[in-house]
Amino acid sequence: MDLPDALELIASLEGYLHDLRDTGVEGLPLGSVISPHKAAAPLAAAVRPSPAPPKPVVLEPSVVSVAADQGGGIKAVREELGDCRRCSLGATRTKLLFGAGNLAARLVFVGDAPGGEDEQQGIPFADEAGELLTKIIQAMGFRRDEIYLCNVIKCRPPHDRDPQHDEIRECYPFLLKQLQAIGPEVVVTLGTFASQTLLRTKEPISKLRGVFHDYHGMTIMPTFHPAYLLRNGAMKREVWADMQKVMKRLGVEAPVKR
Ligand code: URA
Repeated sequence: MDLPDALELIASLEGYLHDLRDTGVEGLPLGSVISPHKAAAPLAAAVRPSPAPPKPVVLEPSVVSVAADQGGGIKAVREELGDCRRCSLGATRTKLLFGAGNLAARLVFVGDAPGGEDEQQGIPFADEAGELLTKIIQAMGFRRDEIYLCNVIKCRPPHDRDPQHDEIRECYPFLLKQLQAIGPEVVVTLGTFASQTLLRTKEPISKLRGVFHDYHGMTIMPTFHPAYLLRNGAMKREVWADMQKVMKRLGVEAPVKR
């Protein structure tokens, strides 16, 4: 392994260990730390993409689902989140938006936070940016209810300001568990905020996008946020190039236009 690969692996392992801690894991068995041979298997398994098993159907009010995970994992995550008041947004939100779509989706899109329109309708991406996102999803050959949509934080920040550090700290462990329960093959992070939060980096989205990144056995493709595309139409070309990579990874083709 050359130095850049080794550094990338170390960064990936470091992020993985941080995320384990965020989801409540306080330590690893000593054997897996002191024996590189013993440690190799579980750690390799942790970063290797694994195919998601087929899963049956469960619906919940704010979720338009066509399927759900067999173990009820996501239901457990939703229950653990409960009527969350872990950060100050619990006092200002009118609805907590957990996520929407297929609970066994092969493809998940993660945005930053719900806005006013989303909160009113009770689903993420119900606004103009969401309409554009729906068009992108359809151009990829999916219906919106075949994929899953969620955000880094689940409650609308007042005046749609950027999410704050303490809000992310409380909410992110639930996002990670939610993604692990769904087990998608690809997670598309929309924009700077979602991409930097999941990848634990300060790299600009212009550098992160268009390249697959390992993330807990899933694969992340960062791309520009649809709200940014509404202001910078020229960047749609870049997003479409990124989505074509995702489609290739999933083995799907764009529907033929008639
Ligand atoms: N609506 C969402 O649900 N998320 C975003 O990132 C933007 C709008």
